[in-house]
Amino acid sequence: MASRVLLCPPTFFDVIYSINPWMQGGTVDKPTAMDQWFKLKQGIESWGVHVSLIGQEESLPDMVFTANAGTVRNNKVVLSNFKFDERKPETDAFEKWFQAEGYETYRLPKNINFEGCGDTAVQGNKMFAGYGVRSDLGGIRRAAKILELELIPLKLDHPNFYHLDTCFCLLGPQSAIYYPGAFTPSAIRKLKKHVPELIPMDVHDAAMFACNSVVYEDKILMPAGSRKIVEELEVRGYEITHINTSEFMKSGGSLQCMTLWI
Ligand code: ARG
Repeated sequence: MASRVLLCPPTFFDVIYSINPWMQGGTVDKPTAMDQWFKLKQGIESWGVHVSLIGQEESLPDMVFTANAGTVRNNKVVLSNFKFDERKPETDAFEKWFQAEGYETYRLPKNINFEGCGDTAVQGNKMFAGYGVRSDLGGIRRAAKILELELIPLKLDHPNFYHLDTCFCLLGPQSAIYYPGAFTPSAIRKLKKHVPELIPMDVHDAAMFACNSVVYEDKILMPAGSRKIVEELEVRGYEITHINTSEFMKSGGSLQCMTLWI
């Protein structure tokens, strides 16, 4: 696994438009948001993983969700084509950053939506990818081809779980946690086929964004508030640190949304 992540300090994070059902205009407490983000950064650094930073543009309140910048494999990045106009300008900002860092960047045709690691999770030479809400099937197909990965397309089926990283989280080559209510029956069959130990969670834990955890070996940074899935993981030996992400959940995002492995 890559041992570097890209984070964006939430200097201008806010909820000023609504592009998912969680964005109900809740007022963001900015100092609290900064504090919550800082705990994520410290948690990642405590693993010895290097954290790189990109500065947030004032006009792009959702830029803190770096997982949506694109999908990275080695030196290649397939940049996102955001579905909603409000986020489209983020692509230029991330492209500039990746090019300055020496990555080979790829853009998809403008009419095809693709939201990077919001909707993709790479494991070995496989790419699990959600589509149907934000990313298009054509977008994940093109990304898999460019990155030379075997695509496992998973159709998403619930407006609240609009990105793959809100309803599925890989724990390693053999296991993952997921929220079945977010997927079509055929997507669940595919998950069962490709993930030997697939651990379901209930809607309470899914709504606490338990799938939006950041995992490193047997250590997990998990959004605070989950119950049963925590026990399920602790009996399996995972070490869980809980981080309150109340401010980011007002935007429909949490820890993994703010983390891009590069
Ligand atoms: N407000 C953002 C949006 O709707 C949240 C993105 C969360 N990111 C994620 N990887 N799930 O696009």
